[in-house]
Amino acid sequence: MSTPGPARGPAHAPAHDPAALLVVAEQAARAAGDLVRATTAGRVGVEATKTSPSDVVTATDRAAEALLREMLAAQRPDDGVLGEEAGWEPGRSGLTWVVDPIDGTVNYTYGIPAYTISVAVVTGRPDAPGEWQTLAGCVHDVPSSETWTAGLGVGARLDGRPLTTRPAPPLEGALVATGFGYRVERRRAQARVVAGLLPRVRDIRRVGSSSLDLCGVAGGRYDAYYERGLHVWDFAAAILVATESGVTVVGPGGGPPSGELLVAARRPLLDALAAELAAAGADRDD
Ligand code: IPD
Repeated sequence: MSTPGPARGPAHAPAHDPAALLVVAEQAARAAGDLVRATTAGRVGVEATKTSPSDVVTATDRAAEALLREMLAAQRPDDGVLGEEAGWEPGRSGLTWVVDPIDGTVNYTYGIPAYTISVAVVTGRPDAPGEWQTLAGCVHDVPSSETWTAGLGVGARLDGRPLTTRPAPPLEGALVATGFGYRVERRRAQARVVAGLLPRVRDIRRVGSSSLDLCGVAGGRYDAYYERGLHVWDFAAAILVATESGVTVVGPGGGPPSGELLVAARRPLLDALAAELAAAGADRDD
């Protein structure tokens, strides 16, 4: 992966306006959603596998990403694009679109109604934790058409309704979403961590779409979410929906979230959960 070029000067400042970028993100996500809805979820052939036999790619993932790339290139020709299936094409503007054409591909192949199109635009280097910032993001839930949107400094919305802050329960009353990686060694470690956490919280949910997990915390459907092993395209859009609605999102040791660990909740629950996860070694595979 290479580094995008430097941001342009003030003459181009409006091109970095979060509200305007959000319009582009939402249009692209909804168009890819229409493409995916036109296929028959649950009767989908797997085209290839990635990190393990359970890490699958379908022709629809590839077609949806191609459509996203085509739309973004037409509207934002100077920006880079980083997508789950086709990698990073650097741009010249300092902005990169980070897209997941289907987040929740396994759900999609089984016809379980929990998978999204995730479209974010970020400044900085999306391959380096803590060195990028989402300016606008859209998570379009394909089966329900629910659409989560956020612009930096302009708030987060679900289907146009503003998401607001709300109190967090104590750890023992928290409904905690999580997810598991695809590799066997990582899953062993994740099973150990979740087994220790389950008796300490209200309950655990594993829905199978990290963008929905993070947006779910923003919307109050879960109290917290954590996962090890995420890729930037899994959370680049949803992290802004979360933070713009008052959720705090951290990584190992309270640093930036990354593939090592992402923990999301409102404070003070966030601190209690992050401490539990640190004590359990949730950022390790051993
Ligand atoms: C996956 C989902 C899942 C999470 C995995 C992700 P994908 O994304 O978000 O919930 O546990 O870590 O890889 O592969 O369906 O785009």
